[in-house]
Amino acid sequence: MKRFAIVLSALAMMMSTVALAEPGALIYKRECSRCHGKTGDGKMGPVIRGKENVVELITKGGLKKTPHAKPIPSVTEEQAKAIAAFLK
Ligand code: HEC
Repeated sequence: MKRFAIVLSALAMMMSTVALAEPGALIYKRECSRCHGKTGDGKMGPVIRGKENVVELITKGGLKKTPHAKPIPSVTEEQAKAIAAFLK
């Protein structure tokens, strides 16, 4: 039983590492590209390539309009940083 718990926690650690390592390009594509275009060059949402406020906006929200009035719950802070790096 103890060994089982160790294996489980090792697995959980491996999985969270994979989630952290997910590249910004992929997260961006899944979470943002439908509104901001393939590379942040704008679509129904504005151009966001090179913007400084990406991480803050995604983790805290703060704009008047949806979807950025609130944080985006499906994106962690780590993932937001990866997206910001991709958009640089
Ligand atoms: C449902 C469509 C939609 C999705 C999905 C979306 N956005 Fe937006 N985004 C918008 C709209 C519309 C605005 C403009 C809001 C405004 O002017 O108040 C905006 C504004 C922004 C801005 C501010 C631009 C500026 O001029 O300061 C940033 C940065 C941004 N989005 C980043 C992202 C990122 C990163 C994601 C993915 C995690 C994302 N958005 C997902 C529609 C979207």
